[in-house]
Amino acid sequence: MNALVTKIDTSSKEFTDRKIRYKDIVGTYNKNIDSVCYNSDEKSVQRHKSRGKLLARDRINLLVDPGTPFLELSALAAFNMHNNSFPSAGIITGIGVIHGIETIIVANDATVKGGTYISETIKKHLRAQEIAKQNNLPCVYMVDSGGVFLPDQAKVFPDKFDFGRIFFNQARLSAAGIPQISIVMGSCTAGGAYIPAMSDETIIVRNQGTIFLAGPPLVKAATGETVTAEELGGAIVHTEKSGVADHIAESDEHALQICRNIFESLPRTERQYVDRQMEYVEPEYPAEELYGILPVSTREQVDPREIIMRIVDGSRFHEFKTNYAPTLVTGFAHVMGYPVGIIANNGILFSESALKGTHFIELCNFRKIPILFLQNITGFMVGKTYENAGIAKDGAKMVHAVATANVPVFTFIIGGSHGAGNYAMAGRAYDPRLLFMVPAAKISVMGGEQAANVLISIKEEQLKKSGKEINEEEKIQLRDSILKKYEEEGSAYYSTARLWDDGIVDPADFRKTIAMGISISLNKKFPEPRSGVYRM
Ligand code: COA
Repeated sequence: MNALVTKIDTSSKEFTDRKIRYKDIVGTYNKNIDSVCYNSDEKSVQRHKSRGKLLARDRINLLVDPGTPFLELSALAAFNMHNNSFPSAGIITGIGVIHGIETIIVANDATVKGGTYISETIKKHLRAQEIAKQNNLPCVYMVDSGGVFLPDQAKVFPDKFDFGRIFFNQARLSAAGIPQISIVMGSCTAGGAYIPAMSDETIIVRNQGTIFLAGPPLVKAATGETVTAEELGGAIVHTEKSGVADHIAESDEHALQICRNIFESLPRTERQYVDRQMEYVEPEYPAEELYGILPVSTREQVDPREIIMRIVDGSRFHEFKTNYAPTLVTGFAHVMGYPVGIIANNGILFSESALKGTHFIELCNFRKIPILFLQNITGFMVGKTYENAGIAKDGAKMVHAVATANVPVFTFIIGGSHGAGNYAMAGRAYDPRLLFMVPAAKISVMGGEQAANVLISIKEEQLKKSGKEINEEEKIQLRDSILKKYEEEGSAYYSTARLWDDGIVDPADFRKTIAMGISISLNKKFPEPRSGVYRM
């Protein structure tokens, strides 16, 4: 493979200015992350600690193998929602390594409204279980939760993908041979009691963990019985009488150690073989330079090779169909030794780009090489020439190939993500194993400017029918309100708060995030492709 060579002058003023601007954007992102990682509700943090409990992220740090990274997911879930009173949606999820086994970890944050579940908490919990299923990863649940956030019950209780789905998933995951382990480190009430009860193996902390379907106040109200929480469902009750839990721990630290001991007896998965190069080299250009290159507005098109050469090993890239359909760049490379097929936007999608993308996905399917999509796309080409030539059917081929790819797919939204370009480039609906956005990324059905124009012309047509006209002032008002709405709803923060992605990522961390994603995906064998490679 040849190494890519940059065409960017990194000493130019343009590059330096862009870098400063992007660093600002990343600085804001880091501040936002700090604001959720260090809960500002000091009173509840102190109360939590005074009970001898560790904070959720500290629990995770003690559970995973020392020196191994924890890939936290959706840290900014519920960001700028609910008056920011649910940092990280009150739950920490991610992938960590326990005794060498890549594992999904789900930890309630009891300092956030008693660890209760709002809609985003549930979405985050279910997404973690979905990742466990797709990649064959054991799950550890660190339970410390008051269950459903009662004022929001209509949004979290009754529907298919609401609270009950957590337990459904546990049963299905366990039946698929994916271990389910619970550590009860606090309250575990009502529906929440089913998390440990549905687990393969459960640990509970003495004088701290409780499991019951109804707490003492409800029991009193329902039956008149007066009982303490400990008598009703404490650690001694469940490890000596009821059998709801299997191991008693003396503290958080002890419980985490027991959990690690459990992992010593878990079966190892048979990993998918890929030809990983154990001795790999870093890219020839520093990742920091990405700050001076990545787009900060939807209108900017950046040659994706400039990004690829700052991500892949030795900046080496074997490009496929270089001169055909140049608005889509495709080719093979390695990231931290793992082979990867890359599909990156270099402009709008045409029929030929869709055919090129489809052909390339087929190659990856056959070679069992995971695919990385680098999305920066305004959409497919529009207009009579293109429609008449059948761009819809060519676009459909790529969408079809993405939807049925038999290798793991990863999506990084590095610029804009709009229109059917989002679908063809493995948007959320196409089940990428992981989907991350950069802090400056934008996602919406179309750009704000285009949406405003469409809506103004619809309004004009409507009024024309009744012999009226839209005046300039109304036009400006309509345009401004649409632009404002799209600006807000299209931001990476809006997306990540609602779990449309798995988190925002600092471009400097692209390499390790991609490598971790591929490593995780190898826990499940890739199925065989179902057809040959069609030349498009
Ligand atoms: N719904 C809504 N809010 C809840 C809640 C619930 N199920 N459980 C706790 N909260 C809120 C409290 O109102 C309080 O809010 P505030 O900080 O705005 O005052 C916060 O969470 C902390 O609760 P608090 O009772 O002060 O903390 P604690 O650590 O002593 O106890 C619980 C935590 C979860 C053990 C306790 O609040 C509890 O038992 N809650 C009820 C659980 C329940 O019956 N759930 C059934 C739903 S399925």
